[in-house]
Parts: sequence; C-alpha cells; structure tokens
Amino acid sequence: MPDKPFLTDVKTLRERARQHIERGAVTAGYSADRETVIKLLNEALATEIICVLRYKRHYFMASGITSSNATAEFLQHANEEQQHADLLAQRIVQLDGEPNFSPEGLATRAHAEYVEGDSLLDMIKEDLIAERIAIDSYREMINYIGSDDPTTRRMLEDILAMEEEHADDMNNLLVEMAEH
Ligand SMILES: [Fe+2]
Ligand SMILES: [Fe+2]
Repeated sequence: MPDKPFLTDVKTLRERARQHIERGAVTAGYSADRETVIKLLNEALATEIICVLRYKRHYFMASGITSSNATAEFLQHANEEQQHADLLAQRIVQLDGEPNFSPEGLATRAHAEYVEGDSLLDMIKEDLIAERIAIDSYREMINYIGSDDPTTRRMLEDILAMEEEHADDMNNLLVEMAEH
C-alpha cells in the first residue's frame, strides 16, 4: 500500500493555520471558489430582503381586509425571511466578503419578485410563486457547493427546508380559500 495519509499531519496543519491569520475563518483548506460563493450568497440575501418586503406589504394590506390565518402566516414568514437574510449576511462576512444591502439594483439581484397583488388570493399566489423560486435557487446553490464548503451548505440546507415549509403554508391557504 502506498503511504498516502488521508489526514494532513498535525505539524502541517499547525503551520498552515499560522499563515494568513487575517483571513479569519477562511483557511488554506477552504476548497470552494470563495468569490463565487459570496456572489451567490449576496443574490440569496437580495432575494430574502425582497421576500421580507413583500410579506410585510401583504401582512399590512391583508390586516386591513381580514384577520384570517393568512395575516398571521404573512407576518411569521416576513420574520423568518429576515432571519435568513441575517444568516446569509453573517456567513458572507465570515467568508471575508461584504453583504450587499444596497437598495440600488436590489430587485435585479434578487431571484424572487416583489409583487403587491390586488386581492388576498393574488397575494398568496405570488408568495407561493416566490417560495418556489427560492426553493429552486437554494437547491441549485447547494448542488454547486457540493462538499467544498460544508458550513455554507448546511446553512443553505436549513434555509431550503424552511422555504419548503413556507410554500406548503401558502398552498394550504389556497386550499382553505377554495373550500370557503
Ligand atoms: Fe427565506
Ligand atoms: Fe420563504
């Protein structure tokens, strides 16, 4: 058997950690394309901000019409999209990047759209569409990252799971409305 160690020896590991300490959490073993990962995370950040704005708009508009399950869901989703935005921004900084919170170009950077919707039914439909866009784009990002950046991947997987819950919530509201 050729002598090819699976793990880096302790001496090399210690030496590598001492080099470039200004890079913080980004070590020599980081094998993903950092710039691309940061760009993708910034697009996801823009998507989450747009989703916060859309759900907030829907929450306040729907509160004027009715106090249905929909209003409670809109508010909860707005808060959860804000948490996603915070997680993404935090990870971008850990990767030595800068989170883009600029309102300029925000709607273009985002994958999902800001649609106001004329009726409660329209709002729910638009939210479901936005969630479905988010689901597909998170899944693509997860596939792109593969095993190159496990921490980013795990975060994206957690967010994806919640977007799937959001889509399911909106779908349930549509079913409820069709029944009444
Ligand atoms: Fe989200
Ligand atoms: Fe969502």
